[in-house]
Amino acid sequence: MSLRTIRVEGDEILRKSSKEIQVMTPRLRRLISDMLDTMYENNGVGLAAVQVGILKRLVVIDTGDDPHVLINPKIIARSGSQTGSEGCLSIPGKSGTVTRPEEVTVQALNENMEEITLTGSGLLARAICHECDHLEGQLYVDLVEGELVDDEEEYED
Ligand code: NI
Repeated sequence: MSLRTIRVEGDEILRKSSKEIQVMTPRLRRLISDMLDTMYENNGVGLAAVQVGILKRLVVIDTGDDPHVLINPKIIARSGSQTGSEGCLSIPGKSGTVTRPEEVTVQALNENMEEITLTGSGLLARAICHECDHLEGQLYVDLVEGELVDDEEEYED
């Protein structure tokens, strides 16, 4: 397992637009594996490459079903609306209310550079939108309704 350092808000790279991936390489495969490790280690449901300092259009998402690797993702359909709490590993300890589509369909390449289409609703739709925004240099705080709140402390026993 190999963890990458997560860039946090204030780091200007998070505001940059990421570049399309043309070809899979061993280095990119290692990046994907490290991003999954880093996401799970930090209890995240998604991570974009820019968050570990790599300006490539690559995101990983796992909302509890299966890990999804999305390369050059494009949201091709949106429907409905959901308003709920959202956070980001680059803005640790905070969350805020964001309205997103209830369901989205995204077209992308997988880790084998095969075309895939993924439709998600609820949390998966939210994660897809959130991670695709990262590729444009956008953060959820740009969309937040009201104030950011401190996440409740988690108690360990
Ligand atoms: Ni995020």
